[in-house]
Amino acid sequence: MKALVLAGGSGTRLRPITHTSAKQLVPVANKPVLFYGLESIAAAGIREVGIVVGHSAEEIQSAVGAGDAFGLDTTYIRQEAPLGLAHAVLVSRDFLQDEDFVMYLGDNFIVGGITGLVDEFRRARPDAGILLTRVADPSAFGVAELGTTGRVCRLEEKPEQPRSDLALVGVYLFSPAVHRAVRAIKPSQRGELEITHALQWLIDEGYEVRSTVIDGYWKDTGNVSDMLEVNRTVLESLEPAVRGSVDTASQIIGRVRIEEGARVTGSRIVGPAIVGAGTVITHSYVGPYTSIAAGCRLLDSEIEYSIVLSGSAIQGVRRVEASLIGRNVDVTPAPAVPAAHRLVLGDHSKVQISA
Ligand code: DAU
Repeated sequence: MKALVLAGGSGTRLRPITHTSAKQLVPVANKPVLFYGLESIAAAGIREVGIVVGHSAEEIQSAVGAGDAFGLDTTYIRQEAPLGLAHAVLVSRDFLQDEDFVMYLGDNFIVGGITGLVDEFRRARPDAGILLTRVADPSAFGVAELGTTGRVCRLEEKPEQPRSDLALVGVYLFSPAVHRAVRAIKPSQRGELEITHALQWLIDEGYEVRSTVIDGYWKDTGNVSDMLEVNRTVLESLEPAVRGSVDTASQIIGRVRIEEGARVTGSRIVGPAIVGAGTVITHSYVGPYTSIAAGCRLLDSEIEYSIVLSGSAIQGVRRVEASLIGRNVDVTPAPAVPAAHRLVLGDHSKVQISA
């Protein structure tokens, strides 16, 4: 069995972070979300992985490399434009050959991994297997309708009027029958070859598409609030360790990980939280569910329930919360007088400023 990991696409919902960086590399507890997927593929006993890449190909390739660090053997497959999940299967035909495969969307996060699901597919060998989960806002997803026998009878991509609250999770199991399906379908209204339509084609042609409903243990990390929630979940089981230096005037409380070369002075860190290598925290408060990446500086500031990417500095700011801060960002207080805001914001930024 092989794996196909989708790491192309454009990531519009995480802008402006994804103007400069692939959304699959946004870190959760200081590790790119994509790495968790690759680790769970390796844990399921799969070795050969095709990674579909688009405009951020170089960045993904330099982060994952040949796959040795994960015990995987990676092949990069170039998709010239994000023309849909089924299009990604189409361009991967040579790599996949006639083997079964698991398709894993690189921005999805499945707590608990996929080993059980892959084992069950290998045992039962239906033509395809999908995962479903109940969500509050089904119209943002592929949505499944189950028949009276519990079988999937209809799948729709982001319907305006969803027929159920069962959303398609970004992990799919396929036999080679899917290659016929992706060749048969036409682009959707949004101009993409939808994997949802390929699955519907399989159902209509009498192939067996099995579904498993899973309980709230997945996230699509496509937007900021989901990223923060995934970060919170992962930090809850973080292994605490102090590898950097913490002075006696500082307090470390609960599940906290401080990486090599990090320096904490006169500060209070309340876990779960992670502080990346070489980061310097001075006279500050870091609250629960916060991940601060490597090479950051925090001075006279307070932050909690946030993700800060590498090389950023926060100075004299109280308080930052529920925030996703990109790489090499500078956050400083605005001068009290005159009461004006000076902003340099990327396209599509969202900022809240007290009036
Ligand atoms: O996350 C689950 C949802 O994923 C499903 O419920 C939907 O049925 C499915 O269509 C998909 O919807 P999204 O709109 O969220 O997919 P997105 O465009 O975010 O792409 C998912 C991943 O696949 C992401 O890592 C980018 C990558 N991708 C996407 C496209 C369209 C590619 O590599 N190539 C592509 O052409």
